[in-house]
Amino acid sequence: MGLNLEGRHFLSMLDLSGEEIVEILNRGLAGKRDGYPHRPMKDKTLAMIFQKPSLRTRVSFESGMTRMGGHAIYLSPTDISLGKRETTEDIALVLSRYVDVIMARVFGHAIVEDLAKHATVPVINGLSDFEHPCQILADFLTILERKGRLDGLTTCYIGDGNNVAHSLMYGAALVGMNMTVITPEGYEPLAEVTQKAREVGATTGSRITVTNDLSAAAGADVLYTDVWASMGQEAEAQARKKIFEKYRIDGETMRIADADAMILHCLPAHYGDEIDYATSRTTNSAIFDQAENRMHAQNGLLAAIVG
Ligand code: CP
Ligand code: NVA
Repeated sequence: MGLNLEGRHFLSMLDLSGEEIVEILNRGLAGKRDGYPHRPMKDKTLAMIFQKPSLRTRVSFESGMTRMGGHAIYLSPTDISLGKRETTEDIALVLSRYVDVIMARVFGHAIVEDLAKHATVPVINGLSDFEHPCQILADFLTILERKGRLDGLTTCYIGDGNNVAHSLMYGAALVGMNMTVITPEGYEPLAEVTQKAREVGATTGSRITVTNDLSAAAGADVLYTDVWASMGQEAEAQARKKIFEKYRIDGETMRIADADAMILHCLPAHYGDEIDYATSRTTNSAIFDQAENRMHAQNGLLAAIVG
């Protein structure tokens, strides 16, 4: 375990190198296999700030801290009213006096950046409008378990070019995985993300493709989808149902992709929209391993960044 990640923030996949991602995943896999007899988080506290709802992020971080001998504190959207009751700067400065690490789920990405700017402890992005990097650590751990490698594989994401898509593109580029993102017209990932992912990918041999054409899923090793309307976009949900109709994982998509293609979904799922229930329960699907692996991947991250 050569790399020292102590004290580092994790706001974006781009905060890590490909080598550092692999190091964290290896730590996560070791914890999953052996548990935490040495209690690496003994006497450590994680503060978890939420502006949005959560099942996996909250419980996986909290349970992970408990398993590693530490403690986590849940701060609900109404507890601290981020940006309303007091400034993000003051929240970061105060929390840094009490806890060893902060995780935040926020609307605007600038909020986690602001927290990290002022905190004197590491800050983890537990989802922003722009990225969801903890999710991608878990996704990659799950792919490693089933496929034995990351580099050289092709992951195909079908749906909205959202926070999860952005982090997947960055992550894939860093580890040398090919990434095909298929969205309806007008719902592509941000152009700056595609450009940056391509730049990074050029150094690792990762090919980043963005298209509106579903046939681009042909031969994919991994098929991935996410909700069509993310948290905060509820008002658009109905209109998006029509626009995204064809951009789903179902029996038809499975016929286009590799027969062994594994299926991922970060959950929560809207069955019948971006994925059908039957396909989500096939042996190709790893969605519940993926949910479990949130905890193992994040444990690897916490153990690496919390001194
Ligand atoms: N995948 C994910 O982040 O789930 P939650 O929104 O339940 O935390
Ligand atoms: N794109 C989704 C991910 C949920 C885990 C959202 O932001 O709501």
